[in-house]
Amino acid sequence: MGISDEFHFRWLKKAVKPLYREMLTNLPENPVVLGLAEHAPSVVIEDLFLESPFKYQACDLFSDNTPGALHYDLNDLSALGDILSANVVTCFRSSFFIKSKSRFIQELTAFLQPGAYLIMDFLIGSSDLPVLDFRYDGKPAAAIYDVKRPSVFATTFYDERLLMEQHLDDVNAFCEHARGWPIKTQLRYMKAHPIQFFKTFRGLQGLDSHNLGEAINSHYDSDNVMSLKDLELNGFTIEKFDTHYFYEEVGKFNLFILVVAKYRQ
Ligand SMILES: C[S@@+](CC[C@H](N)C(=O)[O-])C[C@H]1O[C@@H](n2cnc3c(N)ncnc32)[C@H](O)[C@@H]1O
Repeated sequence: MGISDEFHFRWLKKAVKPLYREMLTNLPENPVVLGLAEHAPSVVIEDLFLESPFKYQACDLFSDNTPGALHYDLNDLSALGDILSANVVTCFRSSFFIKSKSRFIQELTAFLQPGAYLIMDFLIGSSDLPVLDFRYDGKPAAAIYDVKRPSVFATTFYDERLLMEQHLDDVNAFCEHARGWPIKTQLRYMKAHPIQFFKTFRGLQGLDSHNLGEAINSHYDSDNVMSLKDLELNGFTIEKFDTHYFYEEVGKFNLFILVVAKYRQ
């Protein structure tokens, strides 16, 4: 595991742990766990089911070399309901590849059992540069798993509950970073893209926790900004909402959001 993986999963495990007992009590025996955009059970799932059996199903668009994995795009999960009915769904470090949150939620809920848990993280800002809109030098960031089909970063997160006291330190640290980039980042970007540098740098100067939502919404189409409300309006109750700002640990700009939501109907 890379250094980011280690810190990321340490955070996820710690944040989900207080729910283990309740989840295990509510879940049926031998539950079906679906890992979206994943090739093997995450450490969160391994830790949760340390002493209880579960049936795991990996599902990833680029899964040709993973025996047993299902081969689906996060942006077209419409056929999954014909194959399985899940009690737990995880989706880590991939939500940004979703092109339409409404389609994703609609297709997801079609293969969830009542009482199923969704454990998913979201991202505000990109990894490498302090930009809110996943664009470097005007071009959208993409991960290349297949050169013919780049996975473009499209969906972010915002919910007013980010302004609750327990999240404010993370949100403020993120905004402070956006307003005052570390010198190393400035020099690197200024050298590579001098004109874009001044535009991007100035664009974030006034960012703070109170205008973060407005800034995010001005950069994105509403179908690309996930919120807790979107999940609540589609039959979920929020069991856990957590944030983590990773710059101190791994030198990345992102503000990560964790949501554990229970599907009621
Ligand atoms: C950053 S990795 C995260 C892997 C794993 N979930 C984790 O956190 O370690 C992103 C994963 O998303 C998959 N992926 C990229 N675009 C996808 C898409 N449109 N649909 C499904 N999976 C996708 C990649 O193959 C890769 O496994």
